[in-house]
Amino acid sequence: MSDESRPSPAQSPVAAVIPAAGRGVRLGPGAPKALRALNGTPMLIHAVRALAASRHVSLVIVVAPPDGAGEVKSLLDAHALPERTDFLVVPGGESRQESVRLGLDALPPEYGVVLVHDAARPLVPVDTVDAVIEAVRDGAPAVVPALPLADTVKEVEPATVPGDPEPVVATPDRARLRAVQTPQGFDRATLVRAHADVTDDVTDDASMVERLGLTVVAVPGHEEAFKVTRPLDLVLAEAVLARRRLNDGF
Ligand code: CTP
Ligand code: MG
Repeated sequence: MSDESRPSPAQSPVAAVIPAAGRGVRLGPGAPKALRALNGTPMLIHAVRALAASRHVSLVIVVAPPDGAGEVKSLLDAHALPERTDFLVVPGGESRQESVRLGLDALPPEYGVVLVHDAARPLVPVDTVDAVIEAVRDGAPAVVPALPLADTVKEVEPATVPGDPEPVVATPDRARLRAVQTPQGFDRATLVRAHADVTDDVTDDASMVERLGLTVVAVPGHEEAFKVTRPLDLVLAEAVLARRRLNDGF
């Protein structure tokens, strides 16, 4: 399908790419992070359900660990997922950036809006997903959910030996800083161009769009969209699930 015949973001169906191919080195030894359980269910399944909870999302592409696509397919088959959503599994790459690009390569032509969501953010509320989609449908080429920071942030001259004292070189005004989460939402053509043109190492997709010179907008994120990175984050995630269970009354 040519760019001209692709539906505009305002009407287009929405697909979500979920990079889940990382090892989870900071979480410590064990299975790849996305396959680790939270209250008995793999983190990846929580993340897939969180995105498929949006009635706008009709396709979820999971980017599996390079040698784990079969296992991920079986997991998706074994867990209850919404009937209205289609699922695809592709093997991932060495970096998050490469994994996302491999997911985009599998995207069928009719999708004009793409979300990219970390499998490591299993608890993002559906309202956050929908707010991102709405902003893309309203015309923003790239949208990030973001939160104000609790801590003051310092820029330092990084030490060559880890643990050595590091001189502080600047203190950015905290009121102007945001911590950025996922899902990040994109006009498909913009994200595809960013992945084709930008080769610098980046930690999120929106920064690639910034390098194209386009405007990225931030919408309110949510504290439950935090990224499971270190062991303590597993404790927090299970506590959030326990609280949800209590609130749901079962
Ligand atoms: N990711 C990926 N492919 C990679 C590396 C990361 O798909 N080669 C995914 C992870 O699975 C995760 C998301 O990108 O869902 C965010 O990355 P991060 O939290 O850094 O996860 P890991 O890279 O697995 O963790 P670590 O950096 O601690 O090893
Ligand atoms: Mg990583």
